[in-house]
Amino acid sequence: MCGIVGYIGTKKAVPVLINGLLSLEYRGYDSAGIAVLNSSKSSDYELDIFRDKGRVKNLQDNKDLQKSDSTIGIAHTRWATHGIPSKENAHPHTNNDKNIAVVHNGIIENYDKLRTFLSNKGYTLYSETDTEVIPNLVDYYYKKNKDFSEAGLLKAVADTLNDLIGSYAIGVLSNNFPDQIIVAKKDSPLVVGKGDGENYIASDIPAVLSHTKNFYFMEDGELAVISKDNIDFYNTFLKKIKKDLKNIEWDSTQSEKNGYDDFMLKEIFEQPKAVLETIGTSFEKDKINLPLDDIKFSKFNKIYIVACGTAMHAGLATKYTFEKFAKIPMEVDVSSEFRYRDPLINEHTLCIFISQSGETADTIAALKLAKSKGSTTIAIVNVIGSSITRLADYVLYTHAGPEIAVASTKAYTCQTTLLNILALYIAENNLNNLDDKEVKELASLKKDILSLPQKIEDALKTADAVKDIAKNIYKKKDVFFIGRNTDYTVSLEASLKLKEISYIHSDAYAAGELKHGSIALMEDSVDVIGIVTNTKILPKTISNLEEVITRGANVYIITDQTIDNKAFKNIISIPKISYMLSPIVSVIPLQLLAYYVAKNKKLDVDKPRNLAKSVTVE
Ligand code: G6P
Repeated sequence: MCGIVGYIGTKKAVPVLINGLLSLEYRGYDSAGIAVLNSSKSSDYELDIFRDKGRVKNLQDNKDLQKSDSTIGIAHTRWATHGIPSKENAHPHTNNDKNIAVVHNGIIENYDKLRTFLSNKGYTLYSETDTEVIPNLVDYYYKKNKDFSEAGLLKAVADTLNDLIGSYAIGVLSNNFPDQIIVAKKDSPLVVGKGDGENYIASDIPAVLSHTKNFYFMEDGELAVISKDNIDFYNTFLKKIKKDLKNIEWDSTQSEKNGYDDFMLKEIFEQPKAVLETIGTSFEKDKINLPLDDIKFSKFNKIYIVACGTAMHAGLATKYTFEKFAKIPMEVDVSSEFRYRDPLINEHTLCIFISQSGETADTIAALKLAKSKGSTTIAIVNVIGSSITRLADYVLYTHAGPEIAVASTKAYTCQTTLLNILALYIAENNLNNLDDKEVKELASLKKDILSLPQKIEDALKTADAVKDIAKNIYKKKDVFFIGRNTDYTVSLEASLKLKEISYIHSDAYAAGELKHGSIALMEDSVDVIGIVTNTKILPKTISNLEEVITRGANVYIITDQTIDNKAFKNIISIPKISYMLSPIVSVIPLQLLAYYVAKNKKLDVDKPRNLAKSVTVE
């Protein structure tokens, strides 16, 4: 999705902006642009815009831009929604007089009406974008209000926002006021980074993390006027408000590749540490310790886990632990479905929202819906201070560190770990629901959780074996993953990983469902990967795998079991752990498989086509 970076201070702005844009490349984009203020001979400032279709590199190669000494600027990477990727549609957009520039993330839903309004007022719109209405509306109100002071520009921005329906994070720069950037946000993330004699704006923290660790998180409806020494925040009615400055513990080197070819590979190998940090202090005492003391779990008769993509798969993987130990029926749903299906929620419902970014538009909407119906909401989020953390009643953080690759890996293992911990925490707070045998099983699962970092470390040793398999699989058109129970949920995640970065068609099936249709697809050229980690149902999945071999498929097995069957030649062994936690271990070779298959196909692993890291629009 689109990215925003802005700078005001004493340094040259262009390198700061370009580096910021480069660190946002992972979000996915198709064009990029920068607006800076250069002083002209007459001592006035000129607003100079540089933008183009394609990579940030085009801006790096632009000699005129590189010559700029400007110490203020706004920059953008665009992911096309309204209008094709082109120079004309790239941001920043300006008003007709070319003295107000705007970068915008989000979607203005009523842009057509606003374009007609502006055309009727004599404005020309040169692009096909929704964004171009914004600088022109600012211009319209600025002139209409006849207040040509700094406050007048802020008022014109606020008036413009009143006309907009949709989502936005905007940065506004004008050569009439060369010492300020105005920002505003609604339903699209924006942070203000505080420096010393310099300040930053960004849609994502990593864009400016190498400059500052101190951030203000803009809330919906807020505006800010940012100069190099000062930041003033306002509410929708332009009343000054105070905001808390938050310190982000992330280390900027965590946002670098540190010798790895790709962020995805680095993040796969970071998982032992990330999971260890996520377990953190929750196991300090005999009982699990989470900041949820004032929730009375006995009042809940239903749990919903709601999320998108990989985060949703983390929810699916832990349904078994929740139902076995917390003993509350649990349903897992995708946010985009949940929000529009009028789910049965009331004060007896616990709703858990999972999100790496904390900014996924559908998950935010689902959370707002759950709150409006009186349920208790817990968010499991990776990015500190993100929108979801500010909306939920309770927040549990995964400590994965910044995840840069579009394909999520370490966030998944951390989310799945934390959800298991939460399920056991609920169980410990409702212990009378468990019999003696279950109490012992709970203690044993807690031990297994503590062993996860080492088990993941051991599972990473499958990398070479996986690399060999990838040499065959990358030529294939279809790959299927099958498993039962938690192995099925990991199949879904493995299939998502493979398709998103290698573009090979892939599907996941519950092994027992094969006979009900999908087995018709099994033929000579097909590769099937079976995940087998649950002793109880091992013979069942094995017989399903034998059935597909009989129909000509090549079978690969990921297992922590001993499989003594000559029919299976390709077995990758992983460390043994309870089947409730096995997704956190068995996913490792499957993440590596997707990675090596994509590498064999010479694809850009970190920035797969058409995908975005953080989906901030519906
Ligand atoms: C996008 C990303 C996925 C991610 C999903 C949910 O599709 O590419 O990797 O799982 O969004 O994102 P969230 O930030 O809410 O976990």
